[in-house]
Parts: sequence; C-alpha cells; structure tokens
Amino acid sequence: MARPTAAKPPARRPPALDLPQATARLSLREFTLGDLPALAGWSADPRVTRHLLFGPRDAAAARRHLEEVLEAQSARVRRFWELAIERASDGVVIGACDLTLRSREELEVGYLLARPYWGEGYATEALRAVVSAAFSQLGVTRVVAATAVENARSARVLERAGLRWESLLRAHARGRGRVWDVNVYCVGRDDWLSGNGA
Ligand SMILES: CC(C)(COP(=O)(O)OP(=O)(O)OC[C@H]1O[C@@H](n2cnc3c(N)ncnc32)[C@H](O)[C@@H]1OP(=O)(O)O)[C@@H](O)C(=O)NCCC(=O)NCCS
Repeated sequence: MARPTAAKPPARRPPALDLPQATARLSLREFTLGDLPALAGWSADPRVTRHLLFGPRDAAAARRHLEEVLEAQSARVRRFWELAIERASDGVVIGACDLTLRSREELEVGYLLARPYWGEGYATEALRAVVSAAFSQLGVTRVVAATAVENARSARVLERAGLRWESLLRAHARGRGRVWDVNVYCVGRDDWLSGNGA
C-alpha cells in the first residue's frame, strides 16, 4: 500500500482587489498622476493632517508621495493599496483610503477626506466598501484601524462602519516631533458577515 503523503495546502493566489470598487455614491480607484492637484490640496491642509503622522506636505512632498503610490501599483505581489475616493456624481476626487496587508490574515485601513467633503457620510461609505472587499476579495480574517486618541471624528467613522474598539496602544508611534497614543479598532470576518460588526 502506498504510504499516505502529507496533504499539500491549497495554493493561495496573490492578493488582488477588484478595482474600481463602486458604492452608492463613490468609486474607489487607483490614483493617477492627474490626481496630483486634489492630493496636494488635502495634503497641505493642517485641518486634514492634524491627527495624522505626516504633514502638512508641501507640493513637492505631495508629488513624491503620489509617485510612491503609483509605483506600488506595479508591485509583483501587492500588499499596499492607496486608492482615490472619487464622487460618482461629478468625478471629483474627494479623498483617499489605504489598505495594508500586515499579514495574510490582517488588513490595516486608513482614510481621509478633503475638508469640503466632511459631514456627508462619504468616509463611512468608503470604509464599508473596503472592509467588505477585504473579506470577500483579499480573504483576511480581520480588519484593523489605528487612530490617534484625540481623533473623535475618525472613531465615529470606524464605529459607524462596523468596527469595535479593541485596545489602546500607548506611545505607539513617533512622528512630527511627538509620540502618539492610538486606539485600535477591529472587525472580524465572522462578525462582519453575520452583520454584528458593531
Ligand atoms: C476622519 C474623517 C474622514 C471623518 O469625516 P466625516 O465627514 O466625519 O465622516 P463621514 O464622511 O463618514 O461623515 C459622517 C458625518 O456625516 C453625517 N452624514 C450626513 N449625511 C450622511 C449620510 N448620507 N450617511 C452617513 N452620514 C452622513 C453624519 O451624521 C456624520 O456627522 P457627525 O459625525 O457630525 O454625526 C475626516 O474627519 C478626515 O478626513 N479627517 C482627517 C484625516 C483623518 O483623521 N483620517 C483618519 C485617520 S485614522
């Protein structure tokens, strides 16, 4: 009798996202160089970057950042996506969201909107689409987001989108001449699929 051979784990495809991702009012798509004016606009706005580790960025730094984002689009195995959030009704690029695969099982997300587009529910709508794609397309088991403890608007977005507070990480990050305490929010695949995200 042939000796049983160890079962080979099924081959995993490289992570891929279907883009653009459409929501009721938005399209999440790859950035292009033509998006530089929009990106440079919010990057230079201290109200947008107040709780972020970077910024405000000048025009040259914004361009360098966009070039890095474009370069990441051609990575052989993709682990990072920074996507433009485009409003479907008029094609205006209102912000950005980023997705980073920390491991096979964990995706970290971030988002921002240019100041004129706060208060309309766009960030929550974009984040919900990203979380959904993380589970259905990237196959992760958890989605996390880290937000500065002072960033109350961001905490509300995370809760509305179905993530729950998980932990407080003290002195977790260093940037812009200070050390940041951050709250970590999370949603697991099973809770998301059963509608019990938050
Ligand atoms: C964090 C950030 C994206 C949140 O923006 P926001 O406008 O508060 O969030 P949303 O787009 O989800 O909008 C929600 C608000 O719109 C209101 N709203 C209006 N129409 C709505 C609709 N159709 N659906 C849902 N909410 C709607 C909600 O009541 C809510 O207002 P409230 O918080 O005063 O109750 C924004 O403040 C930002 O870009 N900040 C700078 C970058 C940043 O800090 N990013 C987070 C890093 S972790």
